[in-house]
Amino acid sequence: MSDALFDGFVEDYEEACARGVSLSGESRDHFARARVELTKHWCPVPVERILDFGCGMGHSTPYFLDTFPGAVLVGVDASAAAIQWAQEHYGAAAARFVTPDGADRLNTVDLVYSNGTFHHIEPPERPAIVSRIFRWLEPGGVFALWENNPWNPGTRLVMKRIPFDRDAQTLSYRRTSRLLRDAGFEVAVTSFHFYFPAALRALRRFEPLFARIPLGAQYCVVGRKPLTAR
Ligand SMILES: C[S@@+](CC[C@H](N)C(=O)[O-])C[C@H]1O[C@@H](n2cnc3c(N)ncnc32)[C@H](O)[C@@H]1O
Repeated sequence: MSDALFDGFVEDYEEACARGVSLSGESRDHFARARVELTKHWCPVPVERILDFGCGMGHSTPYFLDTFPGAVLVGVDASAAAIQWAQEHYGAAAARFVTPDGADRLNTVDLVYSNGTFHHIEPPERPAIVSRIFRWLEPGGVFALWENNPWNPGTRLVMKRIPFDRDAQTLSYRRTSRLLRDAGFEVAVTSFHFYFPAALRALRRFEPLFARIPLGAQYCVVGRKPLTAR
């Protein structure tokens, strides 16, 4: 998906996302908070600098600032309209928003997080973007790549209901792992989440038992930049 195309969706973004995730009975914020909290478990300690790649309108920002107290966050997105909206609504001393070219000029970070962005990037463009993310990281830093799991039928249904996801090219966890390894990452974690909709929330305490089964609505592949890498 081009940045210009996504720019056209910015004003409808809230409504479109709500229509998709409403199938789960939960809000967008429920998932954003859970992803950020889970990501913390896979991070080197301490995390002082975070980059949210494909941050969109920056809605995950409050969860990063809560979950990683004292850290600074840079949200990066190809959409100028999304960046501007995020800066106006979430910009603060600890959070700012830039384009990918702007991020090249910043200090390296300890954690790069990305959710739901790679399925909008054409497959031939993905390796160069993962290599760029590799360069943005400190040695020992981690890249937590969250994606929608194409092996989950509920996920496919949700994506059909979101206009800007309809033509997306999903990635299996295997493809994502290969992408990270090819860029030089060591794959440290592969974890599957969000099995139960709100109506079955009583079963959620069993979710950790399913984290290795590749059927959750989303997965996270965590790549670690080797300490010897530059
Ligand atoms: C579905 S939104 C996800 C937003 C956010 N990560 C979230 O969890 O709500 C995908 C975002 O990826 C951005 N994007 C797509 N291709 C990109 C690229 N090559 N570089 C940076 N951002 C990109 C889009 O502009 C859009 O904001």
